[in-house]
Amino acid sequence: MAEPLAAAPPERDVLLATKLHMPAARPELVPRPRLAERLDEGLGLGLILVCAPAGYGKTVLLADWARNGQRPVAWLSLDAADNDPGRFWRHVVAALDGACPGIGERVGPLLGPPAPTSFQGLVTALINELASDEAVLVLDDYHVISAQQVHESLAFLVEHRPAGTTVVLASRSDPPLGLARRRARGQLTEIREAELRFTPAEAAALLQRAAAGLPDASMAALAARTEGWAAGLQLAALSLRGQDDAAAFVAAFTGSHRYVLDYLAEEVLERQDTQLRTFLRETSVLERLSGPLCDAVTGREGSQALLGQAERAGLFLIPLDEVRGWWRYHHLFAGLLRARLQEKQPGRVTQLHRNAAAWYEEHGLADDAIGHAVAASETAWAARIIEQHFDMVYNIRGEAATIHRWLSVLPDEVIRSRPRLLLAQAIMAATSGHLHVVEPLLDAVECAPPGWSDEPFEPTAGAAASFLINVPALTTLLRGYLAQFRDDAEATAAFAAQALAESKPEERLLSATAHGFLAVAEWLRGRLTEAERAIVSSVTGWREAGHLTTTAWRWYELVLIRRAQGRLDAAVLTCQRALDSLVTSGRPLPAAGPGPDNAVPGIIDPLTSRELEVLTMLAAGRSNQAIAGELVVTLDTVKKHVGHLLGKLGAANRTEAVARARELSLIP
Ligand SMILES: Nc1ncnc2c1ncn2[C@@H]1O[C@H](COP(=O)(O)OP(=O)(O)OP(=O)(O)O)[C@@H](O)[C@H]1O
Ligand SMILES: [Mg+2]
Repeated sequence: MAEPLAAAPPERDVLLATKLHMPAARPELVPRPRLAERLDEGLGLGLILVCAPAGYGKTVLLADWARNGQRPVAWLSLDAADNDPGRFWRHVVAALDGACPGIGERVGPLLGPPAPTSFQGLVTALINELASDEAVLVLDDYHVISAQQVHESLAFLVEHRPAGTTVVLASRSDPPLGLARRRARGQLTEIREAELRFTPAEAAALLQRAAAGLPDASMAALAARTEGWAAGLQLAALSLRGQDDAAAFVAAFTGSHRYVLDYLAEEVLERQDTQLRTFLRETSVLERLSGPLCDAVTGREGSQALLGQAERAGLFLIPLDEVRGWWRYHHLFAGLLRARLQEKQPGRVTQLHRNAAAWYEEHGLADDAIGHAVAASETAWAARIIEQHFDMVYNIRGEAATIHRWLSVLPDEVIRSRPRLLLAQAIMAATSGHLHVVEPLLDAVECAPPGWSDEPFEPTAGAAASFLINVPALTTLLRGYLAQFRDDAEATAAFAAQALAESKPEERLLSATAHGFLAVAEWLRGRLTEAERAIVSSVTGWREAGHLTTTAWRWYELVLIRRAQGRLDAAVLTCQRALDSLVTSGRPLPAAGPGPDNAVPGIIDPLTSRELEVLTMLAAGRSNQAIAGELVVTLDTVKKHVGHLLGKLGAANRTEAVARARELSLIP
């Protein structure tokens, strides 16, 4: 199997790029200036809806218009997986970043982790960002979206969009975005089936490219039979290529769209050689196609060349990018090919899905891997992939709807036999406040049939950022979470301590959470020094696991504890540190890994060797001026070191810093 080059970007990035790729111009394209004008008129109104059934030329029209326009265009081709608001907005932000560079860096951190519960804040930030730009956001295939949260947040964007922004939707059905109201206010441009139908002149132009010299009467007949339906015309054009007597051919067919499609596709397919026909059928199980993927699925080499051949033959194979070699079949054609596969090679379907699942899993593309594994009835395999990706998809990317969708297709008995899936459900229930279902899930974990622990488990988020990595520790931790809600400080502390004992040092997320629970319990029990120590460990762990917003919350709890201790100056300094950590949250974090060698339990940022030197001199009673002289640096530099020292030690002044450093055995 051909593998991506070492330097090539991961497939996930490549596939995201294909979603953001505006379909390229094709030589056979018929320009449609009358429709382009209608789109131009809509630019000032904020929302343009191009709505018609499959194959009416929506995508081709919008891509051609967008390419020839003056404004920067952000293009996003949606698919069913975008029904997760976290994923939807991540993709929209990526698309907008292409048109208005910098937006991704500035707005991206608002996507989490942790994921926002409402997307209004994110959309408001986007609106503010877009205020100074002119941008067109095209969302193709919007009919695949059914998630209410996506509709609502998009409606908010449309409603409050800045004057220079236009949202364009291509959809097979009307989206629930308050169209009637916008129509009444004159804030909507609509292009529908009637306008999208090819006029006789446009149809003639399209057919002319395929069958020059076709009598006018035949062209008119074809335009009438297909009722100006672009996909039908395209198929007719393809069919005409091989006909000796085009006029007779045209006269021979009549009927509905479905009939036209079946009839013409049959014609076109039959004309291909057996190898290409088999290839088209077998690869129709795929949503997207690339040479290496098709090789793996069919078990034969040479797919890249066959894809090129199919594209040149105009077989509804749409390139998804210019360089990396991804395509997809037009939906209409894919459906037809799948029906033929089912009819001619029903026994082959499962194996094709299995091969696809293996390829996608190997390339880290969970969604497709799970879909194909389920289609191959390999539910245990799908379950394993979900477990491995849960921490990444839920904790880091905040795509709860995606996890719910994955789990919804697994049989109940598969979930009940797998503690990690039960725990995944428990985490989601706990986070969304459905506490009553958590305990039964934890009980089910403890009753799960043995054997699951023999399977190797490698979370894609890495051990540091994984909850599911350690089933016993996580189960205990969640019991501690429930105890917190019962206001049972003793039990919370006991569960948290047990979870800490059960987790390994590298399991940062688990131990950071346990330390956080312990801190709350100690605080409730009035043991503020212990609470302080625990919360400091929690801050360190959350930060190392890469969760900056949660880190800031833990800082805030540290502030409260220091205030409760009566150390008000230290609390103010800690507040400042918390704010600083949020300001830097837009920048990439160092990868989570083992802590620095000089890590000291009780302080979050280790001291640099220079700071340690200054600290020793402070302890010896030297003045700033004396230290500057001794270290041969300026007074300002010494002051800076002292400021950092105080912040890191949570101390209000040099006396407190020295005392704290002694407490932590940093200095004798
Ligand atoms: N302007 C055009 N010139 C030439 N061919 C066109 C044109 N518009 C559409 N077609 C043909 O019709 C086919 C279907 O068009 P398109 O993919 O734009 O339909 P759609 O309405 O977006 O369908 P779907 O809802 O399935 O996405 C294209 O693959 C192309 O062959
Ligand atoms: Mg389309």
